[in-house]
Amino acid sequence: MKNNPIGVFDSGVGGLTVIKTMAEQLPGESFIYFGDTAHLPYGSKSPQQLMSYAHYIVEYLLEYKVKAIVVACGTHSSITVPQMYNQYNVPLLGVVNPASRAAIRTTHNGKIGVMATQASVNSKSYSRQIIELQPHARVYEVACPQFVPLVESGQLQGTEVSNIVNEYLQPLMQAGVDTIVLGCTHYPFLSTVISECAGPGVTVIDPSLETIAELKDYLQKRDLLNNATIATRREFVVSGDDSSFNNVGRLLLGDMITLVGRVEMQC
Ligand code: DGL
Repeated sequence: MKNNPIGVFDSGVGGLTVIKTMAEQLPGESFIYFGDTAHLPYGSKSPQQLMSYAHYIVEYLLEYKVKAIVVACGTHSSITVPQMYNQYNVPLLGVVNPASRAAIRTTHNGKIGVMATQASVNSKSYSRQIIELQPHARVYEVACPQFVPLVESGQLQGTEVSNIVNEYLQPLMQAGVDTIVLGCTHYPFLSTVISECAGPGVTVIDPSLETIAELKDYLQKRDLLNNATIATRREFVVSGDDSSFNNVGRLLLGDMITLVGRVEMQC
């Protein structure tokens, strides 16, 4: 069981930010990554659509006998994971709870901004989780629908990107937040620009660090951690177009992305 892979999924290259942290922190863990590029972007999908994608992908990953599934997607972590949590006999570890914990630990003034997809913001999952952990915190959520198309097309910096970032940051800066959670896993691709625009008084949180720490803890407690120095299996599959994997994904992961497989989804 220790040698079994970890399943990881997202709509596209966003979850690769979590893969990067996993490869750094847990280099012995094999994984199978599912990028649901046929249904990108998730942020504009209904809860019913998201639920049918999530079930399909989880069942696909279970065929690989995964020992855990990291839902490397803020949108699924907000909407489908809370409902699917107990339906499978492998854990589904999302990013909302870890990112919220990191935000609470980081903030000094209790004012926390969240940048996320429209679907995640509508669900108020981050606000709920942060307030549950720290009832005095003030949470300001902003939907950033232009970020995912920017990232998927490899536009990660430049004047146009800075203008869009500044526009989304405006309400958060006005509220005086000192911490911003990147509540969508695509957004760490833009974290340099976001940090520059937000200024030195604001800490920007990439959810992958705390998420992988939680995964490590889960595996360690059950004696499932693979202590090998290098993973034996690292696989990537997509349900649609693979061009962003080959272009943007490789910017982040280099040669770790070799062959990208193709899965035809029936939903
Ligand atoms: N990266 C995902 C998230 O964390 C999905 C973004 C999208 O496809 O809209 O929410």
